[in-house]
Amino acid sequence: MDFTLTEEQLLIQQAARDFAQTELLPEVIERDDAQRFPTEEVKKMGELGFLGMMVNPKYGGSGFDTLSYVLVMEELSKIDASASVVVSVNNSLVCWGLETFASEEQKTKYLTKLATGENIGAFCLSEPEAGSDATSQKTTAIDKGDHYILNGTKNWITNGSTANTYLVIAQTDREKGHKGINALIVEKGMEGFEIGPKENKLGIRGSDTHSLIFNDVKVPKENRIGEDGFGFKFAMKTLSGGRIGIAAQALGIAAGAYELALKYSKERKAFGTEIANHQAIAFKLADMHTQIEAARMLVYKAALDKDNGNDYDLSGAMAKLYASQVAMETTVEAVQIHGGNGFVKDYHVERLMRDAKITQIYEGTSEIQKIVISRSIIKN
Ligand code: CAA
Repeated sequence: MDFTLTEEQLLIQQAARDFAQTELLPEVIERDDAQRFPTEEVKKMGELGFLGMMVNPKYGGSGFDTLSYVLVMEELSKIDASASVVVSVNNSLVCWGLETFASEEQKTKYLTKLATGENIGAFCLSEPEAGSDATSQKTTAIDKGDHYILNGTKNWITNGSTANTYLVIAQTDREKGHKGINALIVEKGMEGFEIGPKENKLGIRGSDTHSLIFNDVKVPKENRIGEDGFGFKFAMKTLSGGRIGIAAQALGIAAGAYELALKYSKERKAFGTEIANHQAIAFKLADMHTQIEAARMLVYKAALDKDNGNDYDLSGAMAKLYASQVAMETTVEAVQIHGGNGFVKDYHVERLMRDAKITQIYEGTSEIQKIVISRSIIKN
């Protein structure tokens, strides 16, 4: 597999790197501390085309391939995973799902504004009692002829309060199991739709994560995505691509922590020499570098599978499983290399360590990725 980047891919990678340094880095510690959403930064990312990267320009998107998207995710995540998760959810879970499965009318009405960043999207699958076990949806969308009546609660929703467009998965016909689930487009402000409290999180504290409450919300039938009963498959197919984005986020967090640790270990002296000259540190750097490179190959492979029209359920799950593990291990080692300085906020690595953890949980935990991977290899 050829991972040589094209000139265009190198340019977009550099643009994301520059943006992260000049726009995300300056206040990243303050945003994390205050749990402040990067409002202005997200607006600028919309202007740069980062929020609808893979969307066809006729719907307001940038028309890039998945590999370019992954490169941008990696660069943004080196600096600020709270900002990059907005990019990931908007691109993979919302724009991609709509562009691939929505009607022309829905695309015109919703996708164009989401792809430009004028509106932000949220993907609402998880519930208090249905996280990993996603077929056990308790939220109901009862068919009332020309509309659905939506009732229930969604949990841990990224972009929970900043979004305007919500893709909500709900059960219409319980007897049909997952074949009775629908995906509905819900707008902020619809009567009966309430945004619940914001979560106070360990990591990605700048991203806003909320519960959402639906009380007899009337959703027009024209807002259903695809055929009746397509909602679960919609969620699964969309999440398969989403996992590539989160894998790229994990890769970026790992690479960001490694770059800081490498720089620090070439500057900090102990026992009369830079600590990089001590084998205890040099071997850590060697392991980190090797693991990150291996994770990068898996992430790029999954992106290329998607771009080349190959199946990417397996490669995306492997990329997410491995890259998130590498993110966790690498950030812990980066803190260790920084010693006491690693434990204070000014050096960034403690935040990267806290941010890394979520990549093993959202868009399918590591255990869910192993279900997807093992089922795939046993079946074939
Ligand atoms: N593509 C298409 N169809 C798929 C699919 C895929 N990737 N995966 C499963 N399906 C289909 C199956 O073929 C099956 O359909 P048929 O009966 O017609 O064959 C149907 O979906 C049900 O599949 P399973 O029997 O495999 O279902 P299961 O109950 O065993 O669960 C699972 C499968 C993979 C574990 C799934 O429940 C899952 O992925 N769970 C994790 C959910 C998740 O990732 N949540 C994250 C929340 S979103 C989030 O984090 C967003 C955010 O804000 C950042």
